[in-house]
Amino acid sequence: MTSSTRSLLVLLREGTEANHQRLEEHPLLRPLMASTLSLEQYSRVIAAFAGFYAALERGIQELSSGIDFPGYHYEPRLPLLLDDLAALPVCTVVPCTVAPEYSNENELVGMLYVLEGATQGGRVIAPRVQQHLALSETSGARYFNFYRQDSWREFRAMVEKRQEHYDCHRARDAACATFDNLYSHLEHCLSNSGDLFSERHDQ
Ligand code: HEM
Repeated sequence: MTSSTRSLLVLLREGTEANHQRLEEHPLLRPLMASTLSLEQYSRVIAAFAGFYAALERGIQELSSGIDFPGYHYEPRLPLLLDDLAALPVCTVVPCTVAPEYSNENELVGMLYVLEGATQGGRVIAPRVQQHLALSETSGARYFNFYRQDSWREFRAMVEKRQEHYDCHRARDAACATFDNLYSHLEHCLSNSGDLFSERHDQ
């Protein structure tokens, strides 16, 4: 790997660092790292993510149909999130009102960087969820255990190989926008949190 092939991933990491930190500290996500994490707090995160991924994955499907990413393909996370939700005391997915628009491959790569990199948070979050809530990679915590699939490594290898095809700055801007869209969506979820929980007849 030459220094030029490393630079898009470095640019993405450095260019989104502040956005990542801001997101990590969002009041909906902060409890994930607390020893007081409750099932209700965790469920809110999964419901919020489900709305966001539903909106994004519609776009990914449309945009990526004509694009070949050698050695990499995006595996939808929505099925995992919906499966997790089915095991949790929340059943309302909050629709994403900040409809993200991605119109070309540069923007797609920037967005995929955020979604694939998000699996790395799972490395630290999944063991905590298992410890505090007794959820597992087969029940209630499939999304946060997705890091085991290694798609982050495949994505990085693909970007390193194809980096000269991309407009780095457009990719970085799209990555920042993806972080910020999720932040806005979480704000929306927070302000609608009264609607989030609906009684399930079996609880
Ligand atoms: C409480 C929530 C979160 C925690 C604790 C967390 C934690 C982490 C950790 C520990 C890493 C690995 C850093 C490293 O290897 O140096 C990481 C990487 C990353 N996370 Fe998060 N994360 C959280 C939420 C998110 C969310 C919601 C997203 C996006 C949807 C996200 C996107 C990323 C990206 C893109 C990377 C890769 C950075 C890089 O190496 O280029 N994270 N996160």
